[in-house]
Amino acid sequence: MTGHPPKAFVIGHPIAHSRSPLIHGHWLRTLGLAGSYERIDVPPAALAGFLAGFPAGGFVGGNVTVPHKEAVFTYLAESSQDLTPTARRLGAVNTLSLLPDGRLRGHNTDGAGFAASIDEAVGPGWEVGQALVVGAGGAARAIVGALLDRGIPRIVVANRTLEKAQGLRVFAPDRIEAAGMDDLAGALAGTGLLVNTTTLGMKGQPALDIALAPLPADAIVADIVYVPAETPLLAAARSRGLRRVGGLGMLLHQAVPGFESWFGRRPVVDAALRAVVEADIGAAP
Ligand SMILES: NC(=O)c1ccc[n+]([C@@H]2O[C@H](COP(=O)([O-])OP(=O)(O)OC[C@H]3O[C@@H](n4cnc5c(N)ncnc54)[C@H](OP(=O)(O)O)[C@@H]3O)[C@@H](O)[C@H]2O)c1
Repeated sequence: MTGHPPKAFVIGHPIAHSRSPLIHGHWLRTLGLAGSYERIDVPPAALAGFLAGFPAGGFVGGNVTVPHKEAVFTYLAESSQDLTPTARRLGAVNTLSLLPDGRLRGHNTDGAGFAASIDEAVGPGWEVGQALVVGAGGAARAIVGALLDRGIPRIVVANRTLEKAQGLRVFAPDRIEAAGMDDLAGALAGTGLLVNTTTLGMKGQPALDIALAPLPADAIVADIVYVPAETPLLAAARSRGLRRVGGLGMLLHQAVPGFESWFGRRPVVDAALRAVVEADIGAAP
């Protein structure tokens, strides 16, 4: 420990788009803490050098984003550093912390952030018999893991590339079923939670084309895309009067554990934080 205020980072390549500095900067300011959080562009070729050297630069940890989440996992695994069970299950790290013994700890908070965003939107204690997760990329892996942890008995993963959906079954073959996009409509009838984890519905992308009529009236529809705030999927869910959860909550809640580990206070996700990030999204070209 140097006695200097703690410094944290978000690394990615590119990184200019990251809203993490806005989130952590807001918490540092509102909690009145000394410390800093900055974005650092780290090209893949420079990643190992950055990871080996950041503690000497006064950093206590940071966030990891595209394209480095899997590479950071591999680096930590191969150098016998600390990985949480969640990071091990996903093979991906989004949060790094420097431990008192000088080792690095890799964690993944995406799935817990998603679950917390549902808790916030519909109230804790929600239960569903079946979740339908559309997409099978990195975010889907984290979300499927979190849904398993929350005890959801049956999870259908539907993806354009069927093999990737089948790959997720390894987490819990008796509870996860893989499907192609053509099977989406058929899976809706018994679904209590529908989650879009694909890039469909993002600003500039086509919508996720799915008729929500077969969903039960008490279903929850979540979209982890957060630009725009109301995706076509969420607009369709609103028309049907279904409960809806936007993607911004996941982004905000996944940031909580990292902030607590670097700066020593557990921050809250509240309306003021949401307003800061929404204003930034609204101002983007
Ligand atoms: N709210 C948050 O905090 C948060 C966190 C993480 C990610 N996200 C968002 O979640 C989305 C996915 O991120 P990721 O990291 O999981 O990406 P990823 O690993 O690249 O996965 C992308 C997924 O989208 C599917 N997809 C892409 N284009 C498609 C199309 N035209 N038709 C059908 N499926 C398509 C892919 O299917 P294939 O496998 O067939 O290619 C795959 O399942 C992004 O929009 C990202 O911004 C939000």
